[in-house]
Amino acid sequence: MFNIAILGMGVVGGGVYEVLKNNAADISKKLGGNGETLVTVKHVLDRRSFEGHDLASIVTTDFQKILDDKSVSVVVETMGGAHPAFDFSKAALESGKSVVTSNKEVVAKYGDILLETAKRNNVCYLYEASVGGGIPVISPLLNCLTANKIERIAGILNGTTNYILTKMLFEGEAFDTALKSAQALGYAEADPTADVAGLDALRKICILGGIAFGKHIPTEKAAICEGITEIDKKDIAAASKAGYSVKLLGVAEKVEDKAYLMVAPHLVKNGTQIASTVDVFNAVSVKGNMVGELVFYGAGAGSLPTASAVVSDILSAIKCPVPETPRENCGDGFCLEAKEMPVKIYFRTDAPAGELCGEIIELGDGERAVITEVATYGSHCAALDALKAKNYKILARHFVLK
Ligand code: HSE
Repeated sequence: MFNIAILGMGVVGGGVYEVLKNNAADISKKLGGNGETLVTVKHVLDRRSFEGHDLASIVTTDFQKILDDKSVSVVVETMGGAHPAFDFSKAALESGKSVVTSNKEVVAKYGDILLETAKRNNVCYLYEASVGGGIPVISPLLNCLTANKIERIAGILNGTTNYILTKMLFEGEAFDTALKSAQALGYAEADPTADVAGLDALRKICILGGIAFGKHIPTEKAAICEGITEIDKKDIAAASKAGYSVKLLGVAEKVEDKAYLMVAPHLVKNGTQIASTVDVFNAVSVKGNMVGELVFYGAGAGSLPTASAVVSDILSAIKCPVPETPRENCGDGFCLEAKEMPVKIYFRTDAPAGELCGEIIELGDGERAVITEVATYGSHCAALDALKAKNYKILARHFVLK
């Protein structure tokens, strides 16, 4: 019998409870049992009393009670927010309990400290559910791809914004209506600004880039963080004319011994897995120097898909609690500044074709769009500034996935 505690019975915590209940017999067999319940939720930390629900007898508002219970070996942190989630996770690890989380904010901010605390106490800090919802991507990076140097990770890492873009583009829904349904479906963050402004995807690309490049990379080191609010239907139409779809991507790319990390809308070539990824689904492309390109695809948010990843981590913590090697903070100088990134950009302008270099898409009404070759972002910006100096307008600027 293994006792666990769940901190936060929200969308993900509730999903974890449901998965453990519904799949109890299978989980038992995977742990060597005969179908009897082997993983028991002994405590739930939540402000609500859950009157009339079977959670009522195990819910508490006192974290110390969980910490003091020596029979609890795994603490599941599905609270969201940086504090007290970080403090509770650290205390649990220090008291010899493994911690499993879906909290990307905590992993992105304090992953280095928590992995080090776990290692020191010979327990695990597991966070598969923090990126890509139900998609296994962290474990493959940590385990199956270690023979490779990872050259680039690029993908759709936020289900809410991909859902909103899909609803707006294919079903003609207004932004607010699409956001409301993403919230009702349990996809969006408590404050959906983190989704819409790109911060949630930034946390995720920093977690993945950190694993890929062997360093803890705080979000402040990223070069660019843009959300979906500046995407104009005119640019979606222009992209489509040139054979691209517009997607909000997180990108982490190695450039010699440095790297850049960013989140921004990108034009992605139609026919690729990423361009075809719609609704709440995520797709993460990983390029290794030996394996080539792999694409991980699946439900990127939602109660049960995310709980699927959390529960798998609970079982890993129970079966084989080997602490992960902590990563040091990347410090200064590892991450390139925005102007140094080697990128392709897209822009829309009223400048005449004779003033422009790259693939030109004529849009009518005196407007045209341009897809450039790869150059530093600084040199692209200088070229756009030169057009502005001649009184031409830059009406939109996005990136193009290389
Ligand atoms: N708000 C997040 C998303 C939840 O939409 O992707 C999953 O991390």
